[in-house]
Amino acid sequence: MPDFGKTVKLLVIGSGGREHALAWKLAQNPRVQKVFVAPGNGGTAAETGLENVALGAIPELIEFARRESVGLTLVGPEAPLAAGIVDAFRKADLRIFGPTRAAAQLESSKDFAKQFMVRHAIPTARHATFTRASEARAYIERQGVPIVIKADGLAAGKGVVVAGTVDEALAAVDAMLLRQTLGDAGARVVIEECLTGEEASFIVICDGSHALALATSQDHKRLRDGDAGPNTGGMGAYSPAPVITPEVHARVMREIIQPTLQGMAADGVPYSGFLYAGLMIDAAGNPKTLEFNCRLGDPEAQPIILRLKSDLFALLEHALEGSLDRAEVEWDRRAALGVVLAAAGYPEAPRMGDPIQGLPKANDACRVFHAGTRLEGKQLVTHGGRVLCVTALGDSLRVARSRAYEAAASIRFDGMQFRKDIGHRALKRP
Ligand code: AMP
Ligand code: GLY
Repeated sequence: MPDFGKTVKLLVIGSGGREHALAWKLAQNPRVQKVFVAPGNGGTAAETGLENVALGAIPELIEFARRESVGLTLVGPEAPLAAGIVDAFRKADLRIFGPTRAAAQLESSKDFAKQFMVRHAIPTARHATFTRASEARAYIERQGVPIVIKADGLAAGKGVVVAGTVDEALAAVDAMLLRQTLGDAGARVVIEECLTGEEASFIVICDGSHALALATSQDHKRLRDGDAGPNTGGMGAYSPAPVITPEVHARVMREIIQPTLQGMAADGVPYSGFLYAGLMIDAAGNPKTLEFNCRLGDPEAQPIILRLKSDLFALLEHALEGSLDRAEVEWDRRAALGVVLAAAGYPEAPRMGDPIQGLPKANDACRVFHAGTRLEGKQLVTHGGRVLCVTALGDSLRVARSRAYEAAASIRFDGMQFRKDIGHRALKRP
């Protein structure tokens, strides 16, 4: 095991609900003296054992980690990973958990991910990559619809168009390749076959050679009930995802996760960190990879972490040591469900500064993780698109859902938006 000494200070990078949940969980280990969160939010500011630090740039974070003798840094979001934060920390001889910039290409370049999957025979949608609009347009005319157009680079959830008509598909290509509405991220597009079935989030923790599966989950990307309205970062999530039966689980590990780890190692870019495979499972239970993310999902992390009974820091120690094959992880048998409360104007133009009232006290079965919140003096105010994620456990998903919605009912801020049907797919299953 890496030697952390008797007590250790940790640093979590990010400001969302995922980072609040990670930091809260890490702080429960008695050896963890403090968890710094950079930059954190109004929830991490108030939580015992956590401390916000107003830093963002990689050199500043390195200097801070040195000065405070931070034993381990954990990265929440994709942007710093794609920018090479892991490479920079390692170069500075600081311990950090996450993929290198090269390995993070599994998320930061869809073309990289697709080429990788083709090379290693990992099931995914058929695709072609284009930089010229005329060729992309001709391909769409030949393939017909429905068809999926994806910006190659990171586009904060705005890079995917599932086109039902040829006009829509052509417009997406023109926007990305000709009008460059997504900048460099859309200078190359991946066009792929439209898959059908049910989506699930399959997240594992990796140490370069071994992968340990976390509890399965499912999120809700659209803003409004019934999966309508614009795409968002995720309006709610629950765990486990019943579509991942034990058989599907075994196949995902064998056909997607193991070949990915082996393939990355064989290609000279061993993968360590959280790895999130976004899956489409067809009616016959065949899993295909829609995308990879090089991090935990948000809001998936919130219900997953609420169900994690094992010590998260101990799990990270195994990951750093390369001994995840010997790690054991225990999950709460109960289901967990998280409802995101979003700000007025989300996702296009979230309004900030609305006072938040009526936060319920946390208990063993329910906890509110903060995302876009900030303390103004003593008053908590909205400070981002997704504001809070009310997350609850229950003996069944139905119970978890009622508990989460009951807790959410006491919370108020102007313009609050939330979905009333989180968990609907799982609850509709026979
Ligand atoms: P991605 O960022 O690649 O996960 O895409 C965002 C969303 O677009 C996914 O969660 C799916 O709902 C949808 N999507 C992406 N690729 C496909 C595909 N090949 N077929 C159908 N839907 C897709
Ligand atoms: N909830 C989807 C994501 O984190 O990418």
